[in-house]
Amino acid sequence: MKEYLSIRDIDLKGKRTFLRLDLNVPLSGKEIRDDTRIQYALPTINFLLDRGARVVACSHLGRPKGQVVPAMSLAPVAEALGRFLPGRVIHFSSDAAGPDASASAAALKPGELLLLENVRFEPGETKGDQELAARLRPLAPDIYVNDAFGAAHRPHASVFALPSMYENVAMGFLLEKELSYLVGRLGSPERPYLALLGGAKVSDKVPVLKALSKKVDALCIGGAMAYTFLAAKGIPTGSSRIEKEQIGVAKTIIEEAASSGVLLSLPGDHVAARSIDDEAGARPVPSQAIPEGMMGFDIGPITAQTYGAAVSRAKTVLWNGPMGVFERPAFSAGTLAVARALADATGLTVVGGGDSVAAVKAAGVEARISHISTGGGASLELLAGLELPGLKVLTRK
Ligand code: 3PG
Repeated sequence: MKEYLSIRDIDLKGKRTFLRLDLNVPLSGKEIRDDTRIQYALPTINFLLDRGARVVACSHLGRPKGQVVPAMSLAPVAEALGRFLPGRVIHFSSDAAGPDASASAAALKPGELLLLENVRFEPGETKGDQELAARLRPLAPDIYVNDAFGAAHRPHASVFALPSMYENVAMGFLLEKELSYLVGRLGSPERPYLALLGGAKVSDKVPVLKALSKKVDALCIGGAMAYTFLAAKGIPTGSSRIEKEQIGVAKTIIEEAASSGVLLSLPGDHVAARSIDDEAGARPVPSQAIPEGMMGFDIGPITAQTYGAAVSRAKTVLWNGPMGVFERPAFSAGTLAVARALADATGLTVVGGGDSVAAVKAAGVEARISHISTGGGASLELLAGLELPGLKVLTRK
C-alpha cells in the first residue's frame, strides 16, 4: 500500500485544521433518513477535537450544481452532529467560503468545530477551481485532513485543489479503514474470492467488471445488469430492461472471465412481472429464459440459493449492487437472501455502494458484515484499480 500521513502523526494542538468529510446523507425535508456517514465521521472528529485542534469541517450534500439550494443545506447535519457530540461546541456557517465562514472560522477556539455550508453551493467546487480552494485555505491554514472516502474519486476543489496547497496533509480514520479493506484485504484476498455484482447498469460497472473478472475466483451477476449478460449469451430476456450498446462489453467480460479461469454465474431463474408496478402479478420464472412480455425484476429462489451457497464457500466476498428492485417487496427476496448469506458467511465480507448497503440494513444484518464501505463510486473506482484524485494528493512525497 502507498504511504500516507495519519492524523496520529501530527501535532494538532490549537491547529486550524481543514477536515473534508463526506456528509452526503439522504434527506426527506430536514429529516436525515440514514445517518451512517455522520456516525462514521465521528472517530476522526473526536480525535481532532480531543487533541485540541480547531476544526473547520467541509462536505457536499447532493448535486446543487453551484446554486444555493435550501433543500440541500447541511444545517440538519450540523444539528445531528450536535446530538452525536454532546458537550462539544459545534458551529455552523451559512456559507462555505464567504464572510460567515471567515468570521466563524476566525472565532473558533481549540476543541471546537465549525461545519461549513454545502461546498457545492459554490460553482467552483465541482470544477476543481483553484480560486475557490484559495478562499477555503485561510479558513484553516495549518493542516488538511481528508476523511471523505465517498468523494475521493472527485477531482473537486475541496478534495483535490485544496490539499495541494498544504504542507501538512493527512488522512482520517475512516479513509484509513476503507483503504485497509478495499486495497489491503481485497488486494491480497484469501481464496476463494467471490464478487457479487448487481445494480441497474453494466455501463456503470464496466471498469470494475473488467478488473474483477481477472482477479476473483468467481463472479455472480444479478440485478438488471444480468439481463444484458443473458442477452449477450443469446438467452431470451422477454421485455426486460437491457442495454443494447453494452452487449459487446458483456460478451468480452464473459470471454475474459473464461480465459482467466473465473467462474462467471448468471441467474438461472427469475422473479418477473409485466411491469414494475405489477407487483401483484410478480411470479417466479423457473428457467433462465424469460417469457415474451415479462420483465425480470429479481433473481429467482434457486439462484438466490446458488449465490448464497457460493458466498458460504468463499473466504472473501465482495458485494456491490442489489440483485433486484429490492425497494419493492415483491422483488426484494433475492437481495435480502444475499444479504443474509453474507451475514452468515465465515469469510471476510465487504459491501459497497449505497443500494447494497441499504439492503444490508433492510435485512438487519449490518453488524455481521466485516466492512461496509461508505463510498459508492469511490469504492468502484478503487476496486477497478484507478487512482483516486483525493488520495493521490495525500500520498507522501
Ligand atoms: C456519494 O454519495 O457517492 C458521494 O457522496 C459522492 O457524491 P457524488 O456522486 O454526488 O459526487
